[in-house]
Amino acid sequence: MRLSLLLFAASASTLVVGQRSKSTRTTAKSSLARSSTSTASAAESSSSITSSRRTRSSDDGSANSVSAKTTSTGSSAPASSSSAAGATSCDVWSKISSTLSGMFSGCNDDSRAAIRAVFHDCFPDGGCDGSLAIAEELNRPINAGLVRTVNKLKALADQNSVPVADMLMFAGSAAVLSCPGGPLVQTFVGRTDASSPAPDGQLPTAEATGDEALQRFKARGFSANDLAALIGSHSTARQFTTDPSKAGASLDSTPSQWDITYYQQTIAKKSPFTLQSDASLANQTEVGPIMKKFSTSKSAWDSSFSPAMAKLEQLGASSGLLDCTSALKKSRSPRDAKSAPINARLY
Ligand code: HEM
Repeated sequence: MRLSLLLFAASASTLVVGQRSKSTRTTAKSSLARSSTSTASAAESSSSITSSRRTRSSDDGSANSVSAKTTSTGSSAPASSSSAAGATSCDVWSKISSTLSGMFSGCNDDSRAAIRAVFHDCFPDGGCDGSLAIAEELNRPINAGLVRTVNKLKALADQNSVPVADMLMFAGSAAVLSCPGGPLVQTFVGRTDASSPAPDGQLPTAEATGDEALQRFKARGFSANDLAALIGSHSTARQFTTDPSKAGASLDSTPSQWDITYYQQTIAKKSPFTLQSDASLANQTEVGPIMKKFSTSKSAWDSSFSPAMAKLEQLGASSGLLDCTSALKKSRSPRDAKSAPINARLY
């Protein structure tokens, strides 16, 4: 385990730890994490941790951004009643990991939704704060397809008295591992749940141009390499709401595999279904060439994906987080582990 996480840490890129806007949402306490394992300190020392303040203002250039408001439908309660930050043990996460491994068996619909939920919770202002589970936010059209899985994860968080924000991040990492070939993502817990929904209009849509998507990601501290790697999550994806007449169509021909077929088929315009935004990214001047590189090398993709996903999962979080990556091991079946890349296999 130590060797694999050291390998992982060595490939980790800069972690950008943003702060929530203090004026409207609950704020996680700052600075970086203590770790439960010796491997985490290796990760910390190999990662350059910086702070970037994110505010409610439209820092991603979104014309549609609106201020979050407290809902009038009773959904203004915290996403979890047990939203205390500052976890001190990973024990509960080992237990949760076993439950998730059943829920995500075979890289199924819940796995896909859980991976996407990380993006939808973390990317808007406020970062990874569990606000996605608040009814007002979850019921937005952009989150269609996530409701069932997010509600299941919220119930699991409540049952185990852990923050929903942590549950969504831990589940996202577990879901990646549930897909054959999925790499290990360094995963922290100890966030504080938001008590109000995130602003609407800050997620790129299926119609976004590659330039627009890249600009939004850069505004969040992500590079073209990060975006090219993260969009590879669409290797597991199906679409339901973009074109309802083709509901269930997958974005590559192997949606239950974490593989580079998505890159190959998107670039070659041979996917069963291609999002307009993905086609545009494949032609974007900075992102396109990197997607092309990943289309020929799964190891190059994995070694960029894991740190980019870890960075996504830490948006808005700050200090006091605890590294519970080791608890994820129960999320992968022995069969899947055999087909995993070497850096994920050795833990
Ligand atoms: C430019 C950025 C992105 C855009 C425009 C985008 C857009 C979309 C759209 C339109 C769908 C299909 C929804 C439907 O019709 O039901 C989708 C699915 C999905 N997305 Fe993205 N996405 C982006 C980035 C990401 C990122 C960063 C991740 C993960 C880290 C991600 C993970 C997924 C997954 C796993 C699915 C499949 C969900 C399912 O099968 O239920 N996406 N995305």
